[in-house]
Amino acid sequence: MKKVYLETFGCQMNVSDSERVASQLEKDGYEITSSEDSADVVLFNTCSVREKAEHKLYSRIGEVRSGKNSNNLRQPIIGVLGCVAQLEGETLFKKSQKIDFVLGTKALGRVSSAIENIRKGSNSFFDLADREENYDWSVSKTQMFSPYIGFVPIIEGCNKFCTYCIVPFSRGREKSIAPADILKQVLRLRRQGIKEIYLIGQNVNSYRPKTETGLENFPGATPFSKLLRAVAATGLERIKFTTSFPRDFHADIVDAINENENLCNWVHLPVQSGSNSILKAMRRGHTIESYVEKIVKIKSSTRKISLTTDFIVGFPNETEQDFQATLDLIKHCEFDSSYIFKYSPRPGTPASQMEDNVSLKEKTNRFLELEKVQRFYQQKAQQSYINRIVEILVEKFSSKSKTELSGHTSCQKVVNFKGSENLVGKIIKVKITKSKLNTLHGEKY
Ligand code: 5AD
Ligand code: SF4
Repeated sequence: MKKVYLETFGCQMNVSDSERVASQLEKDGYEITSSEDSADVVLFNTCSVREKAEHKLYSRIGEVRSGKNSNNLRQPIIGVLGCVAQLEGETLFKKSQKIDFVLGTKALGRVSSAIENIRKGSNSFFDLADREENYDWSVSKTQMFSPYIGFVPIIEGCNKFCTYCIVPFSRGREKSIAPADILKQVLRLRRQGIKEIYLIGQNVNSYRPKTETGLENFPGATPFSKLLRAVAATGLERIKFTTSFPRDFHADIVDAINENENLCNWVHLPVQSGSNSILKAMRRGHTIESYVEKIVKIKSSTRKISLTTDFIVGFPNETEQDFQATLDLIKHCEFDSSYIFKYSPRPGTPASQMEDNVSLKEKTNRFLELEKVQRFYQQKAQQSYINRIVEILVEKFSSKSKTELSGHTSCQKVVNFKGSENLVGKIIKVKITKSKLNTLHGEKY
């Protein structure tokens, strides 16, 4: 048996790609192992969005080759997949002579033949070509990231070209998956007993399929809100979607959430900065005023919808005043949680031509200050759940305790409570008794 160890960096799209790669390998007779030590093949599914992830890749490859973290005396075949592979292509072999093959973001379906090529003696094999027509979007139950949660890609790539972002280069142009194929996937996951799905894409609400066949019976101002209603009609217990793009986020999405209990009450809407001049330099295509208008619609909805966002601090020419505007925005919007990133120039992007003129020290100061303000509002949002009864999908034992179970609410809060193993995989009610910054604690209700 040929054993493959697969490590994934980055976003849910990558996790979802890895599920498919593992399923394909399993079908082709490979065994997926969680032990790097015993692997004949080590695969890295990479992320290039921020510099840090790319650095991590090179250090992990070095570790595997030197056997630093393992007793693996055999020299496994090493393959690099995904975003870094797509961007770097053949040049990866020069950057690291330890790599055997490189597979781009659209070539993942051909992973087994890439491995076979190396086994047969080929050197430095690479495949950056497009996806095959009959690409299999399904994932085998054994290779799913969670037995209760499924990822369903609905749109790939990105056309937005925000000036700092590498995704349009690593993932190519936006391509929406046909509604009929998405609905087929959702129904299949439901039959498998999946309780929660994520409809995923770089910008899910920019969904524009070539045909709307399958959506005819569903109202909606955009194909995305029609799709949300169509997926809700499958009866699957919980439907989440991420990420949304502010310019394409229309009020109708909030209406769809209000009308369908199984559409989860959580929106992730990255804003990046609170300053209009920085947003313009980022070429985001929205202003703070237009963003806040959408937040008002979300916050005034009949169902309480939780709201999360992304920020970049230290974009070129970001002044203290621009940064203050970002602090003001956090105070105004009171996000349930935020991901904050220090700007790092990505090769080939328009922003990488600008001088990276906010020092690392200043970026770190701004990061810490923003984090501090975010923490205050996050605590406040968390505390508002005390004494409330929430429904959670129980996923596993919590990382810190053998007697505490852990799960998520529909609105994406982590909840821990004391309970027994037979509750795992069920949606149950919990009364919240205590709140911490990132976790709520409660009792089974
Ligand atoms: N530097 C820092 N953060 C970045 N992001 C994307 N590109 C960069 C970059 N060059 C962040 C954005 C995006 C998230 C996925 O990653 O905030 O929303
Ligand atoms: Fe990158 Fe902007 Fe596209 Fe998001 S919308 S993936 S930040 S280019």
